[in-house]
Amino acid sequence: MIILRRIPGTRAFVTGAQRDGHTVGLVPTMGALHAGHGALMDCARAACGRVVVTIFVNPIQFDRREDYEAYQVNLDRDFAFCEQRGVDAVFAPPVEEMYPEPARTFVEVSGVSQGLCGEFRPGHFRGVATVVSKLFHILPADRAYFGEKDAQQLAVIQRMVRDLDFPIEIVPVPTMREADGLAMSSRNQRLSPEERAAAPLLYTALCRAAVVARDSQDPAAARQAALEELARDPRFRAEYVEVVDPLTMEPLPRITGPACIAAAAWLGRTRLIDNVRLPAVAASQHSPVGEG
Ligand code: PAJ
Repeated sequence: MIILRRIPGTRAFVTGAQRDGHTVGLVPTMGALHAGHGALMDCARAACGRVVVTIFVNPIQFDRREDYEAYQVNLDRDFAFCEQRGVDAVFAPPVEEMYPEPARTFVEVSGVSQGLCGEFRPGHFRGVATVVSKLFHILPADRAYFGEKDAQQLAVIQRMVRDLDFPIEIVPVPTMREADGLAMSSRNQRLSPEERAAAPLLYTALCRAAVVARDSQDPAAARQAALEELARDPRFRAEYVEVVDPLTMEPLPRITGPACIAAAAWLGRTRLIDNVRLPAVAASQHSPVGEG
């Protein structure tokens, strides 16, 4: 596995692999790698001749400076993680390589970036869309893998790629969960043992909402069910629960086709997000509804 720090060598690695006849799969991350990231790497490994992971904590997507400063990445550990997953190259640039000067050009994906997390994290999706478009230029891969865990981020990137004609295929990967249902996230490390024990309630609430949604097709009833479930534990403070179209992120007046029930909630000082998809929930034999 090779480690790349600079843009020209990274682009040469990707274009060279393509010239040799390989498809290249890209997995953008901010490090602090866990099995959720691992699932993206496995999907890329299964479908692509070369797999490149990027590890870059992108300052312009943090709406709170203290969050950026607190973001813990251990590169040696992350490199070992990638190596074990059969990754061919890791691009881990220093911040000056990505932003030699303060950024003056931004990519704004309107509509889909609004609402949900977009409402509570101003500038966040602009920062994500900007860095991901930089990464797509630096690493002109054939496919890029994104987790459904961050449903709105995925929708923003899908829309950006369509609108700006990026020649890359976006591949969504289902959310990896701990045995108790909690969606894997680097933020889970910040939970105290008591909070960690309480944290699966967010997924339980979403699964209840999914059952109500399936039975009633009524987004308001589904939302209400999730909020009631979350209210059982006073340590949870719900930020939003919404039933949205998975592509546009617009709230649905009625559930007649694909839907995503997305939520964000604070547990103590940690903000957790999660979502479930319909009708995947209703159709699946191993419905997450039953696991929660
Ligand atoms: P990060 O939070 O490191 O996540 C990198 C990728 O891993 C994202 O596509 C995310 O959706 C996916 N992921 C995280 N947890 C997951 C889980 N439990 N199951 C499946 N996939 C999961 O998202 C970012 O970084 C950044 O915003 C980035 C896109 C790299 C731009 O800076």
